[in-house]
Amino acid sequence: MAGVAASVERVKDRATGLDKFVLREARGSSVEVYLYGGQVTFWKNNFGHQLLFVSNKATFKPPKAIRGGIQICFPQLGSHGVLEQHGFARNRFWSVDESPPPFPVATSNCHIDLILKSSQEDLKIWPHSYEFRLRVALSPRGDLLLTSRIKNISSDGKPFQFTFAYHTYFSVSDISEVRVEGLETLDYLDNLQSKNRCTEQGDAVVFESEVDKVYLSAPKKIVIIDHEKKRTLVLRKEGLPDIVVWNPWDKKAKAMPDFGDDEYKNMLCVGAAAIEKPISLKSGEEWLGKQEISAVPSSYSSGQLDPEVIRRMHTI
Ligand code: BG6
Repeated sequence: MAGVAASVERVKDRATGLDKFVLREARGSSVEVYLYGGQVTFWKNNFGHQLLFVSNKATFKPPKAIRGGIQICFPQLGSHGVLEQHGFARNRFWSVDESPPPFPVATSNCHIDLILKSSQEDLKIWPHSYEFRLRVALSPRGDLLLTSRIKNISSDGKPFQFTFAYHTYFSVSDISEVRVEGLETLDYLDNLQSKNRCTEQGDAVVFESEVDKVYLSAPKKIVIIDHEKKRTLVLRKEGLPDIVVWNPWDKKAKAMPDFGDDEYKNMLCVGAAAIEKPISLKSGEEWLGKQEISAVPSSYSSGQLDPEVIRRMHTI
C-alpha cells in the first residue's frame, strides 16, 4: 500500500480514560500500549486478527494490573517478601522516554519508548535505584518486538537482583487444540507442585488441565500452534533463558474476579522470562532482554519448515 506511512499516535482511551499509544504499520498491523503498566493490550496482524487475549472482565484501574496483553513482571515473577505478586512494574504509570540512549539493537521506526524509574514509594519496598527502558516496536511485516533495558543507577555502588517475565496472554481458538513446540524434554519448575523440578515428556506441550510452569533454559525460538485458527505464533527471545506457561483452567478461572469463567478456553500465557537464575546488576550495569512474536500460517508444523521460509511465501 504505497503512500500510507507508519504512525505512532497518543490517544486517551474512551472506555478506560487511560492514555495509550497506537502504533500502525502501512500494511494494516497495529499495536496498542498503555502507559499504565507499560502494557501492550492489542496486537493485530496484517489480516486484522487480534493476537493477544484481554479478559472481558479486565479492570483498567490501579492498583490491579490489566488482565491480558503483555504484562511486564519486574522486579519479580511470583510473590516473595513484601513485593506485590509479579512485581510493581505492571501496575505503575510509565512515562514516555523522550531521548533514550542509543539503542544497541536495530528495531523498526514504528516504535514507542517508555521508561519507569524508582519512586520514593517504591524505594521503601524495593530499595534499589533503577531505570527501566521499554521499547515496543512493530515491524512492517507486523511482528511485535519488546526490548527491555534495565540499569542499576544506585549511588551506593550496591548490586541488585531481579527476576523478570513478559507475561504474554495469547488469544487461542480452543485451548484443547493448541500445542506448544520447543519445550519438550526440558526441565521445568511446577508451580502446582511447590516448584518441584520435573522433566517434560512427550512431543509437545498440550493442555487438558491447569498448567503453571517455568521451563528452564528454553531454546531461543518456540512455537504455539493453533490448529483451529490455522495459525502458528512464533516466539523468539534473547537474554531471557526461561519460558513461563500458564492456563488457570476452570476452577481457578472462577476464583479470579477479573477473568470470565470460560475465558480459559480462549487464552494461553506463554512468555520469555528469567526466573531460575535471577539477573544480577552491579552499579552502572545494564541488562537487555527481548521478546519478538510473529504469526505465520499454520502450514508450518512440527518444525518441518522454518517460519522465515513460510513468511517469504505468504504475507500476513
Ligand atoms: C502465573 C503464576 O505466572 O501468573 C500463577 O504462576 C498466577 O500462579 C498467574 O496465578 C496470574 O497471576 P496474577 O497475579 O496476574 O493473577
